[in-house]
Amino acid sequence: MSKIVRVILCGFGHVGRAFARLIETKHADLERRYGVDLRIQAVVDIHGAAVAESEGLPLGALADLAAAHRPIETLETFGRPGLGAIETIREAQAEVLVEATPTNLVDGEPGRSHMIAALDRGMDVVTANKGPLVLAPTELEERARASGARVLVSAAAAAALPTLDVGRLCTAGARIESIEGILNGTSNYVLGRMDEDGCTYEEALGEAQRLGIAEADPSLDVEGKDTRSKIVLIANRLFEKTLTLDEVETEGITRITRADIQSARSRNQVIKLIGSARWRGGDLTARVAPQALDRDHPLASVGLAEKGIVFYTDTMGRIIVTGGASSPTGAAAALLKDILNARVL
Ligand code: HSE
Repeated sequence: MSKIVRVILCGFGHVGRAFARLIETKHADLERRYGVDLRIQAVVDIHGAAVAESEGLPLGALADLAAAHRPIETLETFGRPGLGAIETIREAQAEVLVEATPTNLVDGEPGRSHMIAALDRGMDVVTANKGPLVLAPTELEERARASGARVLVSAAAAAALPTLDVGRLCTAGARIESIEGILNGTSNYVLGRMDEDGCTYEEALGEAQRLGIAEADPSLDVEGKDTRSKIVLIANRLFEKTLTLDEVETEGITRITRADIQSARSRNQVIKLIGSARWRGGDLTARVAPQALDRDHPLASVGLAEKGIVFYTDTMGRIIVTGGASSPTGAAAALLKDILNARVL
């Protein structure tokens, strides 16, 4: 008898659609390998929802709708035009909210309210949305503690690149002294295409948008704000601090020219957008800036949409994780990983 895990999916953009398709593709395999029957009970987006009464939404029809980029409220039999997210979260029967609405770094909405509504019902929150995590971490923590629910953030903390799992589980007992990472696939893609293919900045960014890697507002990527959110999220969880966004000096890649890239190349260096955090004497400091890395630096060879992180520890030396390219499927896979870790493994 399989364990049933029911999910409400909030947001039906690149990541939400990829999640719906991934669950359809993997459902039988997950049942066989983990004994879990993972059901999508409801999906809600800005114009409406689709809600199942008992068995979960039909995964095949949902995946077809996602592939066709059709609005969720048009799902036959289950579509509910105009139904809002808060109403859906309060009414649908589920154990997990998957929050995949776009990141808003002004007030964290609407994701923040979605997460609070789910936590107040005792639902675990699994999210790709960084806004509420970096703007309202204490509020989310308190709500989660009050109801005994959890907030799982792999998909917001560089997604397919394991960062927090390595930094917390795999280095338990060691002290991490500093971290540095390429945490934004879009910027790395743009710099890589400008370096290797001679693309213009605009061409490369347009391509990243077409691939669904860039944020809904791509200035978040290229101005370093996405990297800043990720370094704050990762550092605060690793070092148990509450560094805020405005404490992080941040510069993106918008001022990098092809001449800068060629000049670095002539010195056998490569320009990368680096987010770093250092723990020293009880103080946590973090920074985001383009840096010219020597070719033998562990992050120098991280190509295109791939990412990487280096942990410098007291007893385990230097630990390097690279890969985990930014993509909607990679983000969906990180959401799935957190669901399995929270409810099944
Ligand atoms: N826009 C992000 C990136 C993906 O380029 O890596 C979501 O965090």
